[in-house]
Amino acid sequence: MIGITSFGGYIPRLRMDRMTIYQRSGWFAPATIMVAQGERSFCSWDEDTLTMAVEAARDCLTGVDRTGVDGVFMCSTTPPFADRLNAGIVQTALNLRADIDTRDLAATLRAGTGGMITALDTVKAGEAGQILVVASDKRQAKAAYFYEMWFGDGAAAVTVGDDKVVAEYIGSHSLSYDFVDHYRGTGHKYDYMWEERWVRDEGYSKFIPEAVEGLFAKLDITIEDVDKLVFPCFFKAEHRKIAKKLGATPDMVADNMHDVCGETGTAHPLVMLSHTLEGAKPGERILVCGFGQGCDALLFQVTDEIENLPARRGIRGSLADKSTVDNYEKFLKFRDLWQVETGIRAEAPTQTAMTVLWRKRKMILGLMGGVCRTCGTRQWPKTDICVKPECRAYQDQDDTEFADTPVTVRTFTGDLLAVSVDPPAVYGMVDFEGGGRMMADFTDCTHEEVWVGQPARMVLRRRYEDEERGFSGYFWKVLPDKTAERPGAGKKADGIRYDGKVAIVTGAGAGLGRAYAMELAARGAKVVVNDLGGSRDGSGDGSARAADQVVDEIVAAGGEAVASYDSVSTVEGGQAIIDKALDAYGQVDILINNAGILRDKSLVKMEPADWDAVLAVHLDAVYNVTRPAFTHMKQQGYGRIVLTTSAAGLFGNFGQTNYSAAKLGIVGFMNTLKAEGRKYDVLVNTVAPIAATRLTEDILPPHLLEALTPEHVVPLALYLCWEGNKDTGQILNAGAGFFSRAAMLSAPGVLVGEEGTPPTPEQIQRRWSEIDSLEGGAEYFDAMEQLMPLLTGQPPAGAAPKEEPVDDGGGGGVDAAAVFDQMGDAFQADKAAGVDVVFQFKLTGDGGGDWYAAIVDQTCTITAGAHERPTTTIIMSAPDFIDLITGKLNAMAAYTGGQLKIEGDLMKSQLIEKIFKF
Ligand code: NAI
Repeated sequence: MIGITSFGGYIPRLRMDRMTIYQRSGWFAPATIMVAQGERSFCSWDEDTLTMAVEAARDCLTGVDRTGVDGVFMCSTTPPFADRLNAGIVQTALNLRADIDTRDLAATLRAGTGGMITALDTVKAGEAGQILVVASDKRQAKAAYFYEMWFGDGAAAVTVGDDKVVAEYIGSHSLSYDFVDHYRGTGHKYDYMWEERWVRDEGYSKFIPEAVEGLFAKLDITIEDVDKLVFPCFFKAEHRKIAKKLGATPDMVADNMHDVCGETGTAHPLVMLSHTLEGAKPGERILVCGFGQGCDALLFQVTDEIENLPARRGIRGSLADKSTVDNYEKFLKFRDLWQVETGIRAEAPTQTAMTVLWRKRKMILGLMGGVCRTCGTRQWPKTDICVKPECRAYQDQDDTEFADTPVTVRTFTGDLLAVSVDPPAVYGMVDFEGGGRMMADFTDCTHEEVWVGQPARMVLRRRYEDEERGFSGYFWKVLPDKTAERPGAGKKADGIRYDGKVAIVTGAGAGLGRAYAMELAARGAKVVVNDLGGSRDGSGDGSARAADQVVDEIVAAGGEAVASYDSVSTVEGGQAIIDKALDAYGQVDILINNAGILRDKSLVKMEPADWDAVLAVHLDAVYNVTRPAFTHMKQQGYGRIVLTTSAAGLFGNFGQTNYSAAKLGIVGFMNTLKAEGRKYDVLVNTVAPIAATRLTEDILPPHLLEALTPEHVVPLALYLCWEGNKDTGQILNAGAGFFSRAAMLSAPGVLVGEEGTPPTPEQIQRRWSEIDSLEGGAEYFDAMEQLMPLLTGQPPAGAAPKEEPVDDGGGGGVDAAAVFDQMGDAFQADKAAGVDVVFQFKLTGDGGGDWYAAIVDQTCTITAGAHERPTTTIIMSAPDFIDLITGKLNAMAAYTGGQLKIEGDLMKSQLIEKIFKF
């Protein structure tokens, strides 16, 4: 029996949300919105076709004896070298035997399946026992182009052989047509594409069925004999149509992976095949096609042996280990589509001495080291004299492989001065398990994600690019394991945690802010420690030390944090603080506005500068920092904001008019923001602390200072930042272990004078005691609620009970279930001729749920629940949905604003407006 003996794959960690591409380039190419769903994968700056191929091959070779590999076929249209055997580089990197068959297959997207057929035929002919076929592509597309959206980077590999076959090869059929749907001329960077409609209609939809029918005829089988159909086609609707044309049921068709990584070129049939094999059961028959200037079709049958295959990362593991980048310029830079100045340091000579590369090929490309025959000490690089001082054996070492040996981080640094495409350059020393140590670059990580003692593994990456001579230099780098738990990070495993959350604390270099930041980090949050490091009155230049020290403390305790030195008192500073969090961690979930200064003087002595400085750091700051944070939180549909007021603002304090005004201004800010944020689960509360810090050291009596530690305020602020807290718009006092709520009250009031006639001052005087009384006072959610009784001339008789206002969430009293009840009436059968679709609605939030509308033969059925295979899925909050239906929300604005998400066939979603009239 011959067939596939092992399989594996690699999708780069980096992903780009296609909507981000659209948001940044849609002004230029508005039509790209049609394909702006899901994510595409893309190589980091130091990855290319070859490094991906090596990773896919390593994955495939999990548990495989490498000495039994008799050949490497490297299939790609984007190999780094036009004339240097790329398969030979893969072979050297994997430390495979020299007496094997290495070949490059190129110049068509069909090279991957072509490589498999050639390898299977070679094994069948008895010329080889086992051949590694690896397909990899990193295709370039110009910016703001459909193909930039459609393409993804990736690689996959299979070994084919005659022993321990996991998928038996039944047969294949190939077609060859010089059909130029696209081409890349020699020396050109980009593909030239012909019109998509033609490519679809004349290419995919004809060649794939023809090749499959040809295979069926050859093997005398029908579609009934196939369990899984694997073929690439990035036109989603066409993908479905081809399957239908072949008589395949939808559950037989492997997903084209557009949503999760995009079309990976030559690699794609193998990527999809590997992905399918990962979940395959013995007995299943898998038909895989490769498309490109014709088509290959191959049939395999999965054997029982698949159950004995050792676990591997696979395509699934690669897909799960992702980092979605929302920085389009970074994407462009990593793809070499954005030219930036890298400075004179980047001009260092990069010429490679081929003599050295040849002599040291095992060391450089294969990461081969030495093991001392006398004392057994492992060392990289292999040297003439053993590194062990007591041994020093001379020329007494055997080769030993290091690439697959796990490593541990011993030291590291983030270097902002070193030239790097993705600064800071992270490098350091690692220890190999079982002995050996080396200095190496780190990759796919920021320095904040690295810690001493962290487990890691070695990966082959591009070390340098010699553009002048067209040479890519490769070497092994350290890939830290970000899933490993930092020591100490789990010390507060129970109770209220902030794992996966990103918190910003302003003024966190000292006092209360420092205490908040430390505890948030100890409970799992990634923290941006912001502090200007200024003086108590805000005068003089700041110093980075304050923030750095707190970051160091957090990291030493096993937490994650980055420093930000921007001032909260400017708009630019506020934006930079949020950008810092987004750059470092990609999100903002928690914001504690805490920074503060004091300039206490009685009003007469208070100069304009004292007024301005205090207002800027307290009140302006709240606008400067909260606005960009809130914008982000609103978009992500989650956020917790804590503001800081003071008893001086709530009640007054001699000599603090500036501070009191600012601090009560903050409460006013909260009162309105609570209403703006509630719908998006962005909750905002205000703490009025009292604690012994630099601000209060000369204000509070010394005997009180000891009981008033910042740590006594921390629990309250942390509770308010927690996702389990559902309160918003509250003011809370905290200090010395006492906690209470403060509030604005308004009394029910009395109607003075005759209706329609303004009262006189004398009437006010007569009723003063009643007017001045707070009896029956109540809180109100907002101004409208408070003013309503007065505006309607109906002051409540007694105390207005504090009532949570009923929020229809913007839907105006209509509810989603009712909309679906009436949806059948809104259906216009005459507009649905020839339409065969299922619209799935997934409505989140209050009143939400799942409903679907199935339209077949001009009849529409509305059902509650989820359909198995909807054509198009509409995802939005229930109130937004109602606004949409009632015409208050524009569909396009909702889509581009992120309130409306569409999965599946985007174009079909446009039929909703046509078919239903509400
Ligand atoms: P602190 O002086 O120990 O800490 C305030 C931090 O804010 C300092 O590290 C400072 O460098 C930083 N900062 C000042 N201006 C900044 C700017 N423009 N940008 C970034 N950072 C800046 O003071 P404490 O007591 O921890 O105060 C924290 C907050 O609590 C302040 O808003 C304060 O008004 C408020 N508060 C404190 C009370 C207390 O009893 N400590 C009482 C009532 C309110």
